[in-house]
Amino acid sequence: MQKILLQFDTDPLPSSFDRVVAVDAGVDQLMSYGGVTCENVVPLVHGAMFTRGPEDLKNTAIFIGGSGVKDGEKLLRRVTETFFGPLRVSVMMDSNGCNTTAAAAVVSAARHQQLRGSMAIVLGGTGPVGQRVARMLALRGARVRIASRSLQRAEVACQQVRASVPEAVVEPVETAVVDDWKELLGGTQILVSAGAAGAELMPTGALEAAGDLRVAIDLNAVPPAGVAGIKPADKAAERDGTICYGAIGVGGLKMRIHRIAVQRLFERNDLVLDAEAILELAEQLDRS
Ligand SMILES: NC(=O)c1ccc[n+]([C@@H]2O[C@H](COP(=O)([O-])OP(=O)(O)OC[C@H]3O[C@@H](n4cnc5c(N)ncnc54)[C@H](OP(=O)(O)O)[C@@H]3O)[C@@H](O)[C@H]2O)c1
Repeated sequence: MQKILLQFDTDPLPSSFDRVVAVDAGVDQLMSYGGVTCENVVPLVHGAMFTRGPEDLKNTAIFIGGSGVKDGEKLLRRVTETFFGPLRVSVMMDSNGCNTTAAAAVVSAARHQQLRGSMAIVLGGTGPVGQRVARMLALRGARVRIASRSLQRAEVACQQVRASVPEAVVEPVETAVVDDWKELLGGTQILVSAGAAGAELMPTGALEAAGDLRVAIDLNAVPPAGVAGIKPADKAAERDGTICYGAIGVGGLKMRIHRIAVQRLFERNDLVLDAEAILELAEQLDRS
């Protein structure tokens, strides 16, 4: 039986990136829908649920994407609420690449530093990718500081992490003006920079001043670097005593996670692949 993936994109045009990955993951038929909302999604879900017998439903799956992570989260809830009994199909949510990118960063950091008990900081931690990074680090027992140019936005992001990980130890940090990076990063072993493309969050000299830092990951691929000194292609490169990864350095793993996650959807009909499940899958992949 053919594997059918329904791509529900919250943007008007379904993402070509997600379409290419679906094809590379081996789906037989890709049905892409743009402009999908909580208001118009139910008939599309019914089309997935009611067309194949329960034993064959594992051959149909749904991928939720688009640039808006909040829209994607709402859509995921609406889709899963539409299922009942055995009439369901597996679903993956990766709006803006948030889950696969964050999982790749967290798994890369965990290669060099035990997460549980470590202190981590997420620069640009209010964005969709940064929030997922913070959530995944907190899930694995790291103490996480979420940094933003606005303390208020950082606090909101902390509340969101606490809402999904009740045991999370998170605190907000304001980084609009940092006078002393050595002081800010003192006692911090893991840094993930998830600032907007092309925005420098850590200037020249800050990385070398950060004496305790074991691993630093910059997810921004667009010059200038998010963390001055880290190159996009860095992959466990040692710079100023810190193990560094750039966006391209984690990008290969991110792509593998995305492809494997799509393949997993077709193993059963009741998977929901969001942050936690995608992190687990990434950890398995990294161990294999
Ligand atoms: N390698 C990959 O495979 C991959 C995949 C997806 C995304 N990415 C990259 O991951 C990064 C994060 O993505 P995203 O979509 O979450 O980013 P985003 O929403 O565009 O930005 C994240 C945060 O950056 C801060 N920011 C925005 N403009 C800034 C500026 N001029 N100076 C300092 N901070 C600024 C904002 O936080 P505050 O306003 O609260 O300070 C914002 O919430 C991006 O660089 C993106 O290109 C990489």
